[in-house]
Amino acid sequence: MADQNQWWRDAVIYQIYPRSFADADGDGVGDIDGIRAHLHHLRDLGVDAIWMSPWYPSPMADAGYDVADFRDIDPVFGTLAGAEALITEAHEAGIRMIVDIVPNHISSAHPWFKAALADPSAKEREYFWFRPGTEMPTSWTGEFGGTTWTQTPDGSWYLHLFTPEQPDLNWEHPDVRAEFESILRFWFDRGVDGIRIDSAALLLKDTTFPEVVDGQPHPFHDLDGVHDVYRAWRRVADEYDDRALIGEVWMPEVDRFARYLRPDELHAAFNFDFLGCAWDPTLMRECIDRTLDAHATIGAPPTWVLSNHDVTRHVTRYGREKTTFSFEENLDGTPVDLELGTRRARAAALLSLSLPGSAYVYQGDELGLWENENIPPEEFADPMWGRRGHSRDGCRVPLPWSGDEQPFGFSTGTPWLPQPAEWKDRTVQAQTGDPSSMLELYRAAIHLRRREEGLHRSTMAWLDAAPGVLAYTRGPGFASVLNMSGAPVPLPDHHSCLLASGPLDGTLLPPDTAVWLRLHPGK
Ligand code: GLC
Repeated sequence: MADQNQWWRDAVIYQIYPRSFADADGDGVGDIDGIRAHLHHLRDLGVDAIWMSPWYPSPMADAGYDVADFRDIDPVFGTLAGAEALITEAHEAGIRMIVDIVPNHISSAHPWFKAALADPSAKEREYFWFRPGTEMPTSWTGEFGGTTWTQTPDGSWYLHLFTPEQPDLNWEHPDVRAEFESILRFWFDRGVDGIRIDSAALLLKDTTFPEVVDGQPHPFHDLDGVHDVYRAWRRVADEYDDRALIGEVWMPEVDRFARYLRPDELHAAFNFDFLGCAWDPTLMRECIDRTLDAHATIGAPPTWVLSNHDVTRHVTRYGREKTTFSFEENLDGTPVDLELGTRRARAAALLSLSLPGSAYVYQGDELGLWENENIPPEEFADPMWGRRGHSRDGCRVPLPWSGDEQPFGFSTGTPWLPQPAEWKDRTVQAQTGDPSSMLELYRAAIHLRRREEGLHRSTMAWLDAAPGVLAYTRGPGFASVLNMSGAPVPLPDHHSCLLASGPLDGTLLPPDTAVWLRLHPGK
């Protein structure tokens, strides 16, 4: 990119879910050596950074989001030396590295929690929320559904907003704060360029433990004290060069969301408003405006996220009658038109890669993968299944690299989750060189974005367009046009077409299709 400083402002960031990227040792689970062997895929794609979902030692009660040691690597993924080698090799390939830190909770197998359970007078007891009593302290509903307290053999209860294997940490305690600042330094010292912060808005609790009551302040979502934590983290990040803190902040209120991005807090946060938005021109345009306004007031870069390891893949979402996403509404098993979903996903790629800010690609987005809705329930590993009746495993299926049948080059063994047979047309090998493939579209778009000055730090301006069409300029001479109306529309006056998400209909732009245009000089 033209300006390497503050790289997170316009980076394309690729999320690796290490269990499912590539398996080098044949145990059916992806690993660090698998990633190292496939780094060329990311270099060819042209991404600026990798965000690595957790790779630390873990009993895997929540696929690694239950961390037993933040300073090491789980043997299923490799070794710390392997992780360091990957960081170096990524840097050599011009790719930055972001690691995932999970501060709200740790694993019940972490030495702190073991010490806290073993001896109620241990100092580690204070690092968690233990409460005495015969009754459960509150009747809060956990983030995966179900209750949030588990009773220990000595009769006391401990708090866990997720599974019982993920006890919540007490962020009032200075040792907890000091430990995480030290963990940040551990990874910054190893050269990582950024930190993705898991469940960033949940850390602080109302220590009087009230019930959740409509209209009252929430006892664990977005408490004001959480901002002090991130101010301290920002001071740590600022001790280093150009490191970024990126928050997972699920927050419907845009003004509350923006508080996390104040100049002395996080550098960026995921835009779940955009991810959950319906495939609808009015709602999409409103979402884009809302996002741009919220970020403009504080000078933070917007982010554009279509999918991640927690949500139904967007090829599937956009192929349903109802195209929104929310954890509250389970659309599993409702009819999906994959052709329509794929056409929209191609257009969405050009949308998300041409809006101002940084764009996220979840592994497999670039291959046009859809949700695997045919995993037998007995193979589900996700703890959300059983609590909410929805499993996130359908978006976590191992990537297809090559060949005509499972494991599609992912492994020499049996992949930990089954891959759809139809993915033989979705492998990297099958798509490479096919100009009509999703992979070549992503490659072309990301490379064009790198070259196109207008797509770096410039703002956007809406162009007048027919109803149902989102058209905007970025810098002089560049425009992006997305037709979300149900009918073909004429293109705005332009010099040439740089890239299209699908074939044009003569001079018309078909529905669910996007183009990037070179405008006449002076436009
Ligand atoms: C975040 C992660 C999710 C995990 C949860 C608990 O939402 O993205 O995968 O289950 O936090 O750590």
